[in-house]
Amino acid sequence: MIPLGLDEFSVIIPKDNTLTEEKVELGKLLFFDKRLSLDGTVSCATCHNTKLAFTDGQPVSVGIKQQKSKLSAPTIINRVFTSEQFWDGRAGTLEEQAKAPLANPVEMGSQSHDQVVKQLKDIKGYRQLFKEAFGTDDFDIRNVAKAIASFERTLMSGNSAFDKFEAGDDEKALSESAKRGLAIFRSKGECSVCHAGFNFSREAGFRSVCHNQERA
Ligand code: HEC
Ligand code: HEC
Repeated sequence: MIPLGLDEFSVIIPKDNTLTEEKVELGKLLFFDKRLSLDGTVSCATCHNTKLAFTDGQPVSVGIKQQKSKLSAPTIINRVFTSEQFWDGRAGTLEEQAKAPLANPVEMGSQSHDQVVKQLKDIKGYRQLFKEAFGTDDFDIRNVAKAIASFERTLMSGNSAFDKFEAGDDEKALSESAKRGLAIFRSKGECSVCHAGFNFSREAGFRSVCHNQERA
């Protein structure tokens, strides 16, 4: 079920990674498992913290050995609706994105994807779960990424006060001051030039346009 305010026709699920319960469950375990990092101290959830709407709430995020990255961790909610991941949109799929932090020396720190896979294969429970999700316990990094991406595709947020107001069901869902803010957002503030659409993010081809303009 897609929450109110989100567009079910915009959901992106790659043909070679159909969404199954087994993959989502496995992906969820992987997402929260610090054993995916070199020294067992950092999981995806370290930077995409559930208590902070899957962000880090920091100016720049901090990975293994307290190393600082260059950017703040964005939320991973509602990422099922876009084909541009990262602030600059350089990853086209959640699968491609998920592989990056695992072997990033500042983030989770492993030397290679093979090392991550080897570490996981040494855990008997994971072999069984990969077998259930992908039909084989001889898995590789692509399966790891597919499972994590499947979990991420289930993280949606809608049905907010704004969504209720926008749907026309509940005029009182927004306070008077919030309504004034929305009007500015859409007119004088020009926020909706870029923060447009149901996800407040015209990502497809749009972020790069903004950045090019900044550079020009
Ligand atoms: C050390 C902190 C850190 C860890 C660990 C980390 N991330 Fe991130 N994540 C970030 C930062 C910082 C960005 C933005 C980087 C950029 O845009 O170049 C990001 C971006 C993302 C995005 C793109 C979101 C968007 O709005 O475009 C996704 C999805 C994501 N991470 C998922 C994951 C997954 C899955 C893992 C675990 C395999 C993970 N992250 C581990 C810090 C982290
Ligand atoms: C020219 C395009 C553009 C306009 C206009 C614009 N933004 Fe943004 N906004 C962005 C981009 C791009 C980002 C992502 C940050 C980055 O890549 O530097 C962003 C990020 C944000 C964020 C942070 C989102 C997050 O996940 O951390 C907020 C909040 C925000 N904008 C609010 C506004 C408001 C309010 C206005 C109007 C007053 C506005 N923006 C106008 C392009 C725009």
